[in-house]
Amino acid sequence: KLETSRIVSLIETNLEPDLVTMLRFLGIVGNQIGMATYVVGGFVRDLLLGRKNYDIDIVVEGDARYFAQTFGRYFEVTCVEHKEFLTTSIFFKNGLRIDVATARTEYYEEPAVLPNVEMSTIKKDLYRRDFSINAMAIKLNQEEFGLLLDFFGCKRDLEKGVIRTLYPLSFVEDPTRILRAIRFEQRFNFRIEEHTLELLKKYVAQNYLERVTGQRLRDELEKIIEEPEPIKAIKRMDELGVLNHLFPHSLVDAETLSMLKRYFNRKRSSSPKPVYILAMILLRESSPEKLDSIVKRYGFPKKFPDWIRKAMSISRELKKIIVKGEQLSYRIFFETVRKPEPEILWFIDAFLDEENSKKFQNYLQKLEKEKPKITGSILIDKFGLKEGKEIKKILDKLQLAKLEGLPDDEEESFVRRLLGRD
Ligand code: CTP
Repeated sequence: KLETSRIVSLIETNLEPDLVTMLRFLGIVGNQIGMATYVVGGFVRDLLLGRKNYDIDIVVEGDARYFAQTFGRYFEVTCVEHKEFLTTSIFFKNGLRIDVATARTEYYEEPAVLPNVEMSTIKKDLYRRDFSINAMAIKLNQEEFGLLLDFFGCKRDLEKGVIRTLYPLSFVEDPTRILRAIRFEQRFNFRIEEHTLELLKKYVAQNYLERVTGQRLRDELEKIIEEPEPIKAIKRMDELGVLNHLFPHSLVDAETLSMLKRYFNRKRSSSPKPVYILAMILLRESSPEKLDSIVKRYGFPKKFPDWIRKAMSISRELKKIIVKGEQLSYRIFFETVRKPEPEILWFIDAFLDEENSKKFQNYLQKLEKEKPKITGSILIDKFGLKEGKEIKKILDKLQLAKLEGLPDDEEESFVRRLLGRD
């Protein structure tokens, strides 16, 4: 009882009033149709941790669709049924979404099993979840609103900061949980419990990650990269052997780490998909055949191997110049990188130290700003040149001169001089 009033006050003080009303109303709907109704999973975890979470997952002991339909009589919402998961999503006009699931014994219920699916209790439903910290429920029905269901020492684990699986085959049933364990460990600064860690390593070594579709792995990996400290998680994945099962033969050396640090620290809004840059950095020394298999597995763009090839050849070029002690100038950037595709751009940027990265960004801005007024067609019409290589050569020289400060009104005389027509 004491616990329940504490949870109610957590709900009432930490959540927005509308959300509190919504939770209470969900319980009332449950009462109306005689279904035990719970909010579960990440929402409960985050409530206890005092963190914001707007993903409301509801579990009912009964037909989720019927629950959602009943709920829908009171609000203007759209219900979308996912038969295969025994869930119905309720979408509100303002963007809020509530997922309602029928309590079940298996986390992954086969569609074929549907007709005979046993109604399972909330306890069994919670037991099939990934980790104890995600396996609590709060009852929402009127008379028991705020009752915390903690069957497996979940709250204690949350307080101690422990990531623990609830049953031995948890990682086998869903190997993406291997990545989830690392994500939660890093996000909350928790630790993976010893026995769980042993199972994790064992199934990684037994190639369980390889059994998952590339798309699901990629989704999980992208979630890891979106966390505030991706480098920590990447190092941890390397330490646990995960990285090499995601990207065979990844190269993790001092240069990799410094490139990753630079990339994730500097990453500006214009960066393309971070997972591409991550993979480019890890696989920068891989053979074309290996890269092709990565492209297939993860549905990366066909150009991916080409990006790496180009980015590496430019980086090598720049490295030679830096090693010689020469400064990277507009001229050098223009001659080596010119205007790279975004993926190549960010790879090269990660390759450069702070000072050179500034010069590089500066160069790219200037390249955008200082476009020659004289174009190819002007060269043809006004200067009588013929289409072909010469035009490109002249335009290049002009562009470089613009980068180096040639004013607009001197472009014409510059071109005349080039053509020896002065
Ligand atoms: N879950 C699970 N196994 C998975 C994925 C999810 O058991 N592979 C369960 C967990 O109970 C989890 C809930 O489904 O709490 C919701 O999953 P999801 O929305 O992916 O994650 P959250 O725990 O809400 O975490 P996040 O804060 O990253 O959204």
